[in-house]
Amino acid sequence: MARILITSALPYINGIKHLGNLVGSQLPADLYARYMRARGHEVMFICATDEHGTPAEIAAQKAGKPVAEYCAEMHQVQADIARRFGLSFDHFGRSSSDRNRVLTQHLARRLGENGLIEVVTEKQVYSIADGRFLPDRYIEGTCPNCGYERARGDQCEECTKQLDPTDLINPRSAISGSTDLEVRETKHLFLRQSRLRDRLDAWIDSQSGWPVLTTSIAKKWLHDGDGLQDRGITRDLDWGIPAQFPGAPWEGMEGKVFYVWFDAPIEYIGATAEWADAHGLDDAAWERWWRTDKGADDVRYVQFMGKDNVPFHTLSFPATLIGSEEPWKLVDYIKSFNYLNYDGGQFSTSQGRGVFMDQALELLPADYWRWWLLSHAPENSDSEFTWENFQASVNKDLADVLGNFVSRVTKFCRSKFGESVPEGGAWSDTERALVDDLESRVRAYERLMEAMEVRKAAQELRAIWVAGNEYLQSAAPWAAFKTDPERAAAIIRLSLNLIRLYAVLSAPFIPFASARMLAAMGSTDDAWPQDLEAALTVLKPGHAFTVPDVLFAKIADDQRADWQARFAGRRG
Ligand code: 2FM
Ligand code: ZN
Repeated sequence: MARILITSALPYINGIKHLGNLVGSQLPADLYARYMRARGHEVMFICATDEHGTPAEIAAQKAGKPVAEYCAEMHQVQADIARRFGLSFDHFGRSSSDRNRVLTQHLARRLGENGLIEVVTEKQVYSIADGRFLPDRYIEGTCPNCGYERARGDQCEECTKQLDPTDLINPRSAISGSTDLEVRETKHLFLRQSRLRDRLDAWIDSQSGWPVLTTSIAKKWLHDGDGLQDRGITRDLDWGIPAQFPGAPWEGMEGKVFYVWFDAPIEYIGATAEWADAHGLDDAAWERWWRTDKGADDVRYVQFMGKDNVPFHTLSFPATLIGSEEPWKLVDYIKSFNYLNYDGGQFSTSQGRGVFMDQALELLPADYWRWWLLSHAPENSDSEFTWENFQASVNKDLADVLGNFVSRVTKFCRSKFGESVPEGGAWSDTERALVDDLESRVRAYERLMEAMEVRKAAQELRAIWVAGNEYLQSAAPWAAFKTDPERAAAIIRLSLNLIRLYAVLSAPFIPFASARMLAAMGSTDDAWPQDLEAALTVLKPGHAFTVPDVLFAKIADDQRADWQARFAGRRG
């Protein structure tokens, strides 16, 4: 039995996430957590809302609420949706927690004491009307390159040219529209990451078997251009973790907070401490996951995230931990994802394009989405959600293959033998061949799940369902029943056991349907199959079961067309 720490990238607090966000981190992390728990490992699965930063402040302003209140509410909304999607976090924390504040200030202090933080004076745009410094992307104006009138201070979306806010013609605040701007001097803390370059490089080289996507992004940031840049880790904002605090090895940071990307990953640790607090446990309970001097040296730590998050997790966060010179647990494996596109374009939160998590659950239960998303996870390249593909996958895989098997077997048994596992007959070569086939398929499925090959694991699981269908089709208990009822009984007994086995194997992908299948089989035995023959004889003759309601309903063409039209425009 191993100890496995799993973190999913923390969703930003503002707004509900779309399906592209979900499949890029939280959902595959949940798949892995559920699988590892099913295999008997000790799992700590952590997620949280990422609550600081300008976007959160602005979203709160738009909602007409104090930012703390807005975040508290949105946290509840996201926690509720996560629960309904079956995301089995051991703790869903908040980066605005006291735990995270203390840890973030502690790590910053250590970095400062180790000579890795310096105070730098910068010039920045201040909006007099808004009463605040404006982050680059909140300054708008005309692009000096192409004349686009809504270019942002960091980049022109029209011609993609990288900009400085001072390049813009007729600059204005994107928050209020005010042109009453001036350039003011302000001081910030800079993390001297460049000093850690060699240690980061060596650490990345020492990692074996990282996905190419992960390593290539990390190496590019380490070596391209000027290499690893020192970066500002404070901002002139109210909402966030104060950068001036008792014991800080610098002065003059009053009114400033840490940059959201500095404190967000620290919340992986913070949320584990919040978990301990929520369970009335002491610090040793979370430290054994995070401190290599307190037991975490035998933890395997796996992170899940979209590709845009990789630099922060391969470089910035490790720089924070390594630079502290304290024995923090570093990540062992980073599973990163490409993007999921939506029907010929991109999912977009700002444009409200695509299907968002709350909307998805209004249409269909979580398992339909879980299955499609995981079986089409954007692992090796970007992938695309289309309604046709979604409909085909639900109708074929879930309704025709799995659902139909469960329905045929249970209904046939009820009509011929009643609602208990029939006795009589014995396994023939056909059954033994099926067991052999399943034995090798289940072992292949295990290898793929362990390797986090999400799509391939889904294919293997589907093949396991198909094997049952093919067996049923060729063994044909309905024909056997007429001449040899005992033979039919043996076939059905095995098939009922297959339903229980499918419930166990499928639970990481479709936990809700799996729970219904297991309940219908009147079983609480969800032990992972070590030995297929034993697993397929768990339900003994005479054991009572029930016929479940339709497991998966098919999506009709007009339904699909309806949804397609409804989600073509923007959310609202
Ligand atoms: O890209 C995002 O959605 C970020 N909120 C991810 C943060 S991950 C971690 F570092 F907290
Ligand atoms: Zn431009």
